[in-house]
Formats: sequence, C-alpha cells, structure tokens
Amino acid sequence: MSFVEYGEFMKEGDIAIVFLGHDSMFPVKLQHGAQTQTKYGVIRHSSDLIGKRYGSKVTCSKGGWVYILHPTPELWTMNLPHRTQILYSTDISLITMMLELKPGSIVCESGTGSGSLSHAIIRTIAPTGHLYTIEFHQQRAEKAMEEFREHKVDHLVTVKSQDVCKNGFGVANIADAVFLDIPSPWEAIGHAKSALKEQGGRICSFSPCIEQVQRTCQALEAHGFTEVDTLEILLRIYDVRTISLQTADLGIVAEDVSSTGLDSGSQLGQSSVCDNSSQRTIQFKSAVTPREMVGHTGYLTFATKSLF
Ligand SMILES: C[S@@+](CC[C@H](N)C(=O)[O-])C[C@H]1O[C@@H](n2cnc3c(N)ncnc32)[C@H](O)[C@@H]1O
Repeated sequence: MSFVEYGEFMKEGDIAIVFLGHDSMFPVKLQHGAQTQTKYGVIRHSSDLIGKRYGSKVTCSKGGWVYILHPTPELWTMNLPHRTQILYSTDISLITMMLELKPGSIVCESGTGSGSLSHAIIRTIAPTGHLYTIEFHQQRAEKAMEEFREHKVDHLVTVKSQDVCKNGFGVANIADAVFLDIPSPWEAIGHAKSALKEQGGRICSFSPCIEQVQRTCQALEAHGFTEVDTLEILLRIYDVRTISLQTADLGIVAEDVSSTGLDSGSQLGQSSVCDNSSQRTIQFKSAVTPREMVGHTGYLTFATKSLF
C-alpha cells in the first residue's frame, strides 16, 4: 500500500521510487518536462513516466531498465533524506503492533525527526485517524510538513514545533497511543498521560541506552502506567544460496546421499551429486545467514494507561 492518496497511475507532482535494484533506489518528483539521470541513461518524465502504471518497467536511454514504484512508507524509510537518526521497518513493525494502531487511531509522537515513523503511523491510522507530531527543531518540523504535503497525507497529521518535555503535545485526553523518540523521554511521561484518553491507551518509548530505559520505567510507574515491558527486536535475514561441497568417495550411491546427512541444509531445494570417481561434488540449496547483521538499534519500552 502506498502513500494514502496515491493512485494506480503516475501523476505530475507525485514522489515515485526509481528502483534499480534492492541496494540501489531513489525518490524523484514527477514533473512534465523533467529528466532523471540513472546509470542506465535518462528517463523522461513526460513520455516515460507520467500516465504510466506504478510498477512499470521503464527502459532508459542507454537501453537498461528500472522499475518505478509506489512510495510506500517502507520504501520511503529506505530513501528519505536523513535529518536525524531514523527508525527502520523492523522496529516500526513492533511499535505499530504493540501500540495497537489501526484505522481511526489518534496518535501523539515526539520527536518527528525525519518523519520515518510518522509516515508508517499515518498509513496505518488512515483514513479517519490523526497524528499529532511534536518536533522542537523548527526547520525539521517545517521540512516534515512539506513532505507530508508532497505525499498528500497532510490532512492526517498536525506538526507542532515545541518542546514536548515543557509544553506537551498540545492536546488532552484524545490519544489512543503515544510514541516517544527523544533523549529524555522520562520528562515527557506526565504530558503523555494527559494526552491519552481518560479510559486509557498505550505508550511506547524508544531509547538506545539502558540507563534511559531505567529512568523511563521509573517515570511510567510513578505516573501509574501498568504492563511496563521493554523489548528489543532483531532482524535476521536468510539468503538462499547454491552450495557446492566436495566430498570423498565413500562408495555411496547418489540415491543414498539424503539418508547420510551429507545433504543437510537441502530443505529448500534438491541436492544433486556429480561423481568423478575419486571425488564427489554435492550441490544443494541452503539458507545462509549473513556474516554481519544490524544488531542493537534501541530498546522499546511499552506500557498501558489503564482506567484503574
Ligand atoms: C531520533 S530523532 C526522531 C526520529 C524519528 N523517530 C524518525 O523515525 O524519523 C529525535 C528528534 O526528536 C527531537 N527532539 C528531541 N527532544 C525533543 C523535545 N524535548 N521536544 C520535541 N522534540 C524533541 C530532535 O530534534 C530530533 O529531531
């Protein structure tokens, strides 16, 4: 699902994602008469893009091709201009679920930062929910509002430039959920409680350091929040590879290999055996984890404001 109001076909003014590969993509604003350079040559917006269906394969002037994709919140997170550290889709998925966000939810957030989480929240709470996002850095707040307008979701979000620890969220008793990604979240817990509905709601605070978590948990308990839980989510990606393994000839015929355990890891595909008398090469598909992966991003502390 793309940004809320985007249609099936590319229009002048849309932000589209030019996809050259999983590690190479970038956003462009579609404008009649404009051109975009890629390593495969030029793309002309008027003739190549505007009016075409999102997801189209577009041939560039040097003969190579790219896909033009809907700017989903996930793709935006991967391509947005960084003004701050941002939250990525793995943390965002847990936040969305644990805050119980759904269409119609009213959410308060601080700080807005680069708007990575904000776009995901807006997509989830649309078409009837609303996000109040607080960012004390004036230019970041203005830039976020400009992007929300460009992405045609500005009617679903209010951006305020103020210090959430001093001035709160500017709303009282209307939020279903509050999210904090600021250096001193414990100073904003009282304001979060006031923003949440009287009958209660959920809160989440993201902090990289455990000392921040400890102070936040103390503040949550002092303000009567319950069900305080701190979680960390790690993403482990598996690549499917074809592995070639040379083994000594133990006099085993091909059909017997699967029963020996020599093809362990072949669950994802068929193993095959090439026999050149003294040596055998076994080929099989295997799921392999990367040598390095993204580790700790931050701790996610969740809690509930309950009626009693
Ligand atoms: C790490 S960034 C948030 C990134 C955001 N979650 C995202 O996914 O793009 C933290 C932001 O909080 C803002 N901030 C820090 N303390 C604040 C406060 N007391 N009130 C409002 N904004 C604050 C900072 O200016 C910064 O832009």
